[in-house]
Amino acid sequence: MYTIDPTTDAREIERVPAADGELVLRRAGEHYEIISNGCFLMDTRAGESERLLVRSALDALGDVPALRILVGGLGVGFTLREALTEPRVAHVTVIEREPHVVAWGRGPLAPFSGHALTDPRVSVVTADLVAWVRSPVTGPDAAPERFHALCLDIDNGPEWTVTDGNASLYDDAGLDALRARLLPGGVLTFWSASASPAFADRLRSRFAQVTVHRVAVPRGEPDVVFVAREM
Ligand SMILES: C[S@@+](CC[C@H](N)C(=O)[O-])C[C@H]1O[C@@H](n2cnc3c(N)ncnc32)[C@H](O)[C@@H]1O
Repeated sequence: MYTIDPTTDAREIERVPAADGELVLRRAGEHYEIISNGCFLMDTRAGESERLLVRSALDALGDVPALRILVGGLGVGFTLREALTEPRVAHVTVIEREPHVVAWGRGPLAPFSGHALTDPRVSVVTADLVAWVRSPVTGPDAAPERFHALCLDIDNGPEWTVTDGNASLYDDAGLDALRARLLPGGVLTFWSASASPAFADRLRSRFAQVTVHRVAVPRGEPDVVFVAREM
């Protein structure tokens, strides 16, 4: 998350109330930016690390067929779009807290996700992911819904959450709740705008395999993708 430069030529498209303040959709040339309480949340310009968030999970899963994936935080839809490029992916559940982000994803941001929200393999749940993972949500067989991979990008990272409530996704109880949503051999991935050795250690204390990827960005610290796999 970066503080917004007021000198930019970006034009405000919509300003709406959000879970903890307000969200703004802005347009700058061909691109869009989502601003949360005056701070940059996501834009349509790059997306390499957001794609890696799901690609690293797919790679770790190997040739498992009929994959069921959860994407946490829709944003502009780069992560979701990458999941849908994989033929082994049978279904993607997107959990997004902000109804306006979902509406933008069906509207002006649709081309950037490859119109992913119209893909029949996608269902969108408008909910707080932190509460959702702890809720008794059931699948078609009435058992708690579980996934081959949970790909999570709702914050700037485990140590820089966009709202205070999100912090509990990354603590011991949060990791236990996430783990309970994994199918055997499943994979958890987390996006972060900065390194977090403490979070990597917490993952290593609970998961058999943990990998940390760094992705260079034009300015500032590399983005980080944490990959944790059950055996
Ligand atoms: C940085 S964006 C995600 C970017 C996404 N990976 C992409 O490819 O565009 C973070 C998203 O998470 C959503 N979000 C934040 N907290 C959330 C929560 N507790 N539950 C669900 N969604 C949340 C935000 O509204 C935003 O759409």
